[in-house]
Amino acid sequence: MQGLLFTVTGLLAFASATPFLDHRNTCKADNCARAITGTTAGPPLAVRQSDCSAFTSPNPTPTMPSYASACTNPAQYSSACACLGNPMPTGTCISPAEATYIVNTFASLLTAPQAPDFSSKANALLASTFTDTSGSINFLANKNVSGVTFPNKEAFIIGQGSQPPIPVLNTLDIFFSCTKIAWRWVAQGIGSGQYEVKGMDMFTITPGGQISEAYAEFNSGAWLADIGNPQCPKCSSKT
Ligand SMILES: *[C@@H]1O[C@H](CO)[C@@H](O)[C@H](O)[C@H]1NC(C)=O
Repeated sequence: MQGLLFTVTGLLAFASATPFLDHRNTCKADNCARAITGTTAGPPLAVRQSDCSAFTSPNPTPTMPSYASACTNPAQYSSACACLGNPMPTGTCISPAEATYIVNTFASLLTAPQAPDFSSKANALLASTFTDTSGSINFLANKNVSGVTFPNKEAFIIGQGSQPPIPVLNTLDIFFSCTKIAWRWVAQGIGSGQYEVKGMDMFTITPGGQISEAYAEFNSGAWLADIGNPQCPKCSSKT
């Protein structure tokens, strides 16, 4: 009995010294947490509770409520919801809401690279260790097809931020595991728009919900034809 008591006390001491195990330490005092758990927050507590429970349930609503706009990503919202007693979805695993959010945000970087919030969005979405590798992009850009395309997020922000927008980009499918997302897509309206371009991206996601690795391959032949075969002028004039 004494041994057990000692063990329990020892565990409690360990729990309060370890942020991961201390429930109170998950309740951060940031604007996101205040919007969800604060006593002066917008909608009644019961509404915020039920939004949180819908978001963190096994089949979550993949959208954060508008009063949670101070939460920059689903991981931060889920963490604020944890303070209202809703368990974090599945430990460090990606939730369906998070997968949808990450794909939609990345897609918006491709469809609106000149948007005023492009850099801030990219900075929030991409991890500090971000790399982007694409033989398809390298081929279009006349670069080594075996090399890394963007070795860090600054290079992505400069490179992708100077691309023309992809006019139409639709998601065909999203598949994810605990730490990776596969995204299948189709783009339309590139250059002459003669051919649609289908492709797939694979993302590695950090526990904080950011993309650390992106791998993208797509129909670069169709893309090149759409933009007039600039690497091969004779191909387009050949009869
Ligand atoms: C292309 O990139 C690969 C991988 O980084 C490297 O091993 C190879 O030497 C590069 N080739 C050229 C011609 O630079």
